[in-house]
Amino acid sequence: MSFDQDEKHPPRRRKKEETFELEQPVNAGDPTISSMSERKLCDSLRPMDFASYVGQRAEVSNIQVFVKAAMMRQEPLCHLLLSGPPGLGKTTMAQICAHELGVNFKATSGPAIEKKGDLAGLLTSLEPRDVLFIDEIHRLNAVIEENLYPAMEDFAFDVVIGEGPGARSIKLDLAKFTLIGATTRPDLLTNPLRDRFGYTAWLEYYSPEDLAQIVHRSAKLLGIAIDEDAELEIGMRSRGTPRVANTLLSRLRDFANVRGEHVISRKLADESLTMLGVDCAGFDRTHRRFLRTIIEKFDGGPVGLKTLAAATGEHENTIEDVYEPYLIQQGFIQRTPSGRIATRRAYEHLGVEPRMTSNQRGLFGE
Ligand SMILES: Nc1ncnc2c1ncn2[C@@H]1O[C@H](COP(=O)(O)OP(=O)(O)O)[C@@H](O)[C@H]1O
Ligand SMILES: [Mg+2]
Repeated sequence: MSFDQDEKHPPRRRKKEETFELEQPVNAGDPTISSMSERKLCDSLRPMDFASYVGQRAEVSNIQVFVKAAMMRQEPLCHLLLSGPPGLGKTTMAQICAHELGVNFKATSGPAIEKKGDLAGLLTSLEPRDVLFIDEIHRLNAVIEENLYPAMEDFAFDVVIGEGPGARSIKLDLAKFTLIGATTRPDLLTNPLRDRFGYTAWLEYYSPEDLAQIVHRSAKLLGIAIDEDAELEIGMRSRGTPRVANTLLSRLRDFANVRGEHVISRKLADESLTMLGVDCAGFDRTHRRFLRTIIEKFDGGPVGLKTLAAATGEHENTIEDVYEPYLIQQGFIQRTPSGRIATRRAYEHLGVEPRMTSNQRGLFGE
């Protein structure tokens, strides 16, 4: 069978982009989204099809197969879990799936579904093959999560009518829908929930070249000319994260406009990023303060999460979900059972001479 057969089954036309108001903004904990205007920028730059989704090739090609197969069979796409740090394209990927399937996309987030009735309302409003997107799915409360199991498995929802001994339970049949869950913390998902997804995609930090490509596309959409080496400069200083790349690009456009320059050159990019406090590793003041705290206040660690949160004034979740993954991936800190440790790379980056304690000697290979 060839995938082209889905021509015979044209996708159901999407009526309109139905999106629930998110009580919690998408990626509420992400400090890279600083305002409503950043959120709007994100939305306006979101690719709507697989072809314009840059990078993550292995995951994209797998998901493309599942989407095509679902379309050929006129069935809902299997339930998908998208896992990865903030700003890597989870929401975008979920929207692309709905768009390519030609179905409605309804979005909510784990903490926004408070009562069983909220979930019932969401599920019963779905049409066949629609995509229900639950962001931060690891933050669903336990009761809601249990009610989601039969919905995912059998497209059924149990409703209890009445109270006390006279109460009875009836089963509501739901449309066969697809649940796409997104999480920055796959480790916090319960096993029964994880097992009910047909596939888990692991999104990874992007290479500077992929980010340069995203910047290239976004610059076109924003109507600003940019040199190739400036695209790469932004790519290298965006911490592997498309959302950061887009935000930086839009700030650089401000600098270019105000300076009366029509093209973002590498020189302008470099100077403006430095003025924004973004260093060669893509760290801003907050990241540097975080590293500096471990090094200066705790002799490079090990320091526990709670202590670190108190010392930096950052929320524990923000440290774990937003700052640490990239710092760990890039080898600036290590997470050990006794706490976080700054590595030699962190000292070198900040230009601080290491004063080693016995704990760190092994780490520094001495
Ligand atoms: N692979 C990609 N190609 C192009 N743009 C991307 C890609 N991934 C993310 N983006 C852009 O980055 C921004 C953040 O993506 P988003 O899907 O909101 O991330 P997440 O939901 O993982 O936090 C969006 O504006 C989107 O346009
Ligand atoms: Mg998101």
